[in-house]
Amino acid sequence: MSNHPITLTVNKSPYSLSVAAHHTLLDVLRDDLGLTGTNEGCRMGDCGACTVHLNQLRVPSCLVLAVNADGADVQTIEGLAGETTGEHHPLQEAFINRGALQCGFCTPGMIMSAAAILDEIPERPLSEAAIREALAGNLCRCTGYAKIIEAILEVANG
Ligand code: FES
Ligand code: FES
Repeated sequence: MSNHPITLTVNKSPYSLSVAAHHTLLDVLRDDLGLTGTNEGCRMGDCGACTVHLNQLRVPSCLVLAVNADGADVQTIEGLAGETTGEHHPLQEAFINRGALQCGFCTPGMIMSAAAILDEIPERPLSEAAIREALAGNLCRCTGYAKIIEAILEVANG
């Protein structure tokens, strides 16, 4: 099977890659670029563990063929962490301080979705109901969501 050349900007760094037609953006991020903060869960678009920002919009990277992301700007959890001070993003701090994770498997995708939600929903104060609805595509098996919602509310509303 022949590969296809693509270019990507990932966390502000440019890459030229050769990808198989069936490889997903998730495959490229984890296997070609070693960005294993983006987790692989269902590979069906159902769990949100693989959420990244593609051209400033959140997407499940398991559903994006790498060839279709040619030329795109991608941000992963690794890029979010260094975006402001080189330290944790405020959402990461809030998740830590609130104990909003247990096994941590869902956490990178949860935080990437949360970061997008802060931009997607301009109203402040941001309501718990709005966060719950916007976060419906991100599944957590451990926490019961309460601490996750509290962490996002803290960052959104101060
Ligand atoms: S691994 Fe992509 S949504 Fe579950
Ligand atoms: S912390 Fe374990 S799945 Fe969310």
